Amino acid sequence: MSDSRPIGVFDSGAGGLSVLKALVKELPNESFIYFADSANCPYGSKPKDEIIALSSAITDFLISMGCKVIVVACNTATAAAIDWLRENYSVPFIGMEPAIKPAALNTKSKSIGVLATAGTFKGRLYIETSHKYASDVNVCYQVGEGLVELVEQGIENTHEAEDLLLKYVKPMLECNIDQLVLGCTHYPFFKPLLEKILPPNVEIIDPSPAVAKQVLKVLVENQMLLDNSVDSTYHTFYSSGSTDVLKVLVSKIEEETGCELRNRVFFDTFIVPVS
Ligand code: DGL
Repeated sequence: MSDSRPIGVFDSGAGGLSVLKALVKELPNESFIYFADSANCPYGSKPKDEIIALSSAITDFLISMGCKVIVVACNTATAAAIDWLRENYSVPFIGMEPAIKPAALNTKSKSIGVLATAGTFKGRLYIETSHKYASDVNVCYQVGEGLVELVEQGIENTHEAEDLLLKYVKPMLECNIDQLVLGCTHYPFFKPLLEKILPPNVEIIDPSPAVAKQVLKVLVENQMLLDNSVDSTYHTFYSSGSTDVLKVLVSKIEEETGCELRNRVFFDTFIVPVS
């Protein structure tokens, strides 16, 4: 059976496009609907109940657009809302896993760094994963205050961004980390700067390729995979604010992956009502 319905992907803003990049590489024939809740970004310091209400409203919208599965391409929304979403909807959800496990397995210095939002560090997933896999390594964690805003403004490759990143990784380097986990989907857009700042022995871990593999697994298990290439594949982008940054980053993704995001449409200031 072949299922041509789209895959829904959402984030507080443009950050989830780093996950979409891994998804189009893994699943080039599938159609995607991406929702950026730019009007409510950032989610990082919002209370859990508010993030659940926003995630639920976006889920209603993506389901109304016929999505077969939903990727919560936001660590903060995964931490706050994925348990609730799974309890209240029958559509399969795939969330962001904090990549503590590979970092703890790979580290030689027995010290790893995790950069994420305050909301992600408070979540069950982060707490459970670090207890389970990182009990014998030193975890140097840091809230990336202000970083999401730089990506949303399209100024992620500036001196301002470099200074902020330096401030955040300095204490980690003092702890001798050799793995840096990117625990927010906005942060892979800082990879070129991080590669410049960090010594070569520090590996940067972005969980998106593993999440894309998990989406493939869920599609196969649910017999929802689109098993042959169709010309009608489409990529639709909605933002509750402006789609300007989405347009720039989508073009970058096409350049970097060599995958054409076919039949692209962008819809600005599309507000999903929270009931
Ligand atoms: N991309 C979101 C994440 O992965 C950003 C959170 C925010 O909006 O603060 O956590």
